[in-house]
Amino acid sequence: MSKQRVLTGITTTGTPHLGNYVGAIRPAIAASQDQANDTFYFLADYHALIKCQDPAAVHQSTMEIAATWLALGLDTDNSVFYRQSDIREIPELSWILNCVCAKGLMNRAHAYKAAVDANLAENEDADKAITMGLFSYPVLMAADILMFNANKVPVGKDQIQHVEMARDIAGRFNHIYCKKEPLLSLPDYQVDDQVSVLQGLDGRKMSKSYGNTIPLFLTEKQLQKHINKIKTNLLEPGEPKDPDSSTVFQIWQAFATPEQTAEMRQAFAEGIGWGDAKKQLFTLINAEIGEARERYNDLLARPADIEAELQKGAAKARAISQPLLEQVREAVGIFKLA
Ligand code: TRP
Repeated sequence: MSKQRVLTGITTTGTPHLGNYVGAIRPAIAASQDQANDTFYFLADYHALIKCQDPAAVHQSTMEIAATWLALGLDTDNSVFYRQSDIREIPELSWILNCVCAKGLMNRAHAYKAAVDANLAENEDADKAITMGLFSYPVLMAADILMFNANKVPVGKDQIQHVEMARDIAGRFNHIYCKKEPLLSLPDYQVDDQVSVLQGLDGRKMSKSYGNTIPLFLTEKQLQKHINKIKTNLLEPGEPKDPDSSTVFQIWQAFATPEQTAEMRQAFAEGIGWGDAKKQLFTLINAEIGEARERYNDLLARPADIEAELQKGAAKARAISQPLLEQVREAVGIFKLA
């Protein structure tokens, strides 16, 4: 049986937090260890430019995200780990796809529509602060996916529409240019319902935009401090507590074995104090990520080694993207005259 090509991108803005770890990084690294998969993971730094125009921040985030994945044990012999901007064929394909993608399709993109709606709600011009980058974001994402003929694209729910658009765009390209055999494969999204969406300090979804995150690689002291900030109610030790409405319990569950989860559920019923529950939560999380934290700090001190890993990934990726782009260029009529 041929392997499934699994591909996903990580936008290089911000510092990875526990929500990213539980929701995306941990399952991605697990998928890379499954021999049935051929995994492609990349740092979407061109996508970062759409959201962030602070060069130092984009650069720093790229470094932190790369170091995080490597420190957590991504096996770069078993998967292709690269930086989007190292693959020159991606923006080139993106342009060609722009020329087959209907503008009307992009008008329907959620992120763009939300930006327009927000402008209108404030009685502003509909296009205020909307760049062409934001508008055509799904085309660049389609290029990322189609460049490698990916079959499965693991994403969060907010990205499903983008993968569907990549399918549409691939179909359109094949229809126009590939009368005999399609050049681009139609990808499927993969949304894992088993994976939890972690709650943040305030109980809403953990997200950089809410400012409620717990960064993944804090010092032990800072980690405990952040955990202490998780919002709880005012119940005293000895009073039974409801695990299912508790962020402490929700995060516990994401790191615990089923037995540990059952034990904590029992402890809540028996009135465990919040301070005690938070101490235990710290110990649990720290046990899972403690060693990776050391590797992370070590890697950050050796940026050349991180860069070498990315270059190794870029070489593997380009062995695929270069020949495919040649075929695409030829299909659209761009090739040498003689
Ligand atoms: N847009 C994705 C996000 O914000 C990141 C991304 C860029 C991506 N290119 C991709 C994900 C290609 C999957 C496939 O999460």
